Amino acid sequence: MTELLKADAAGIARAATLLRTGHLVAFGTETVYGLGADATSDAAVARIYAAKNRPRFNPLINHVASAEAAFRQGEENTLARLLAQAFWPGPLTLVLPRRADATVCDLAAAGLPTLALRVPRGETVQAMLSQLDIPVAAPSANPSGSVSPSDAFHVLRGLGGRIDAVLDSGPCPVGVESTVLDLSRGAPILLRPGGVTLEQLTAVCGPVRHADDHGSKRPIAPGLMASHYAPDLPVRLNAAAVRPDEALLAFGPPLPGAGLTWSLSDRGDLEEAAARLFAGLRFLDSEGRRRGLRGIAAMTMPRHGLGLAILDRLRRAAAPRPVSLPDDADDDDLASIG
Ligand code: TXA
Ligand code: MG
Repeated sequence: MTELLKADAAGIARAATLLRTGHLVAFGTETVYGLGADATSDAAVARIYAAKNRPRFNPLINHVASAEAAFRQGEENTLARLLAQAFWPGPLTLVLPRRADATVCDLAAAGLPTLALRVPRGETVQAMLSQLDIPVAAPSANPSGSVSPSDAFHVLRGLGGRIDAVLDSGPCPVGVESTVLDLSRGAPILLRPGGVTLEQLTAVCGPVRHADDHGSKRPIAPGLMASHYAPDLPVRLNAAAVRPDEALLAFGPPLPGAGLTWSLSDRGDLEEAAARLFAGLRFLDSEGRRRGLRGIAAMTMPRHGLGLAILDRLRRAAAPRPVSLPDDADDDDLASIG
């Protein structure tokens, strides 16, 4: 049984109690719903992998209420402090050297000498984390490889019965996952585009290298590209025309002749589009299959601002899907490393 908790004082207190006692609680953040567990407990974190059916243990993001709490786990530096001041609470994850006295368990860190840390924004998640003196490890609250959840109903559809509770704080206002920035190697490296844009980052910390330009971070063979965020129907990118057997994911004015359509943003607004992305993929997938359609055609959009994060997720949704994923082609890690 999965408890559905309201975002009121009682619901928040219940979520905190469940987390403190080793249970799995999904909760809304400004980006997507996370599937949380006590990050200091290997046993609790192991349940996350089991519930998601994640094929391998990969590092998770650790959520805390404040920058001070984050810097008790990860080694701070000048740049980390600047970025924390500018973007926390908010959709930025910093990868920092793991402190010797960090309480995050080995499993949440996947044994790495670094930790991913984030202070999420949102009244409910902030209230919940403030009641806890433990960090909360949380990947997106969906079965491995499928579309990320942007409301509590999506979580229940994917994981209902497999987790202990969902704290329902309504739809996620940003709609794509946090930006993951590695500060553990000197110059900052963008591991995953997300809710904080490259332009916003650059304004605070100067030029940022993308992990794509950083060969060693991309060990996966091109043929085994990171299939992720994937609906059942195949996704076709940069569609300039829509076929009769395709549904359309539109940005700006829809392509002529489109039947089943989900508009990310009629007026071409990237923030609106990000917030509507995962719900749109889910809708086109289920309704498209019901109508016997064969695929989803996605229109393109500008490669700036939140467009980078949206195009990254669409590229992964469209990636070739190996019959069985290679050992390290896991769900969430490939969002940045794959
Ligand atoms: O918006 C978000 O970030 C959501 C919400 C729930 O907070 N969480 C999320 O978590 O997307 P997940 O597990 O799907 O993504 C974690 C990302 C992965 O790409 C993982 O590889 C990376 O963070 N990561 C975690 N620890 C890392 C580390 N020590 N070094 C490099 N990358 C790391
Ligand atoms: Mg995910």
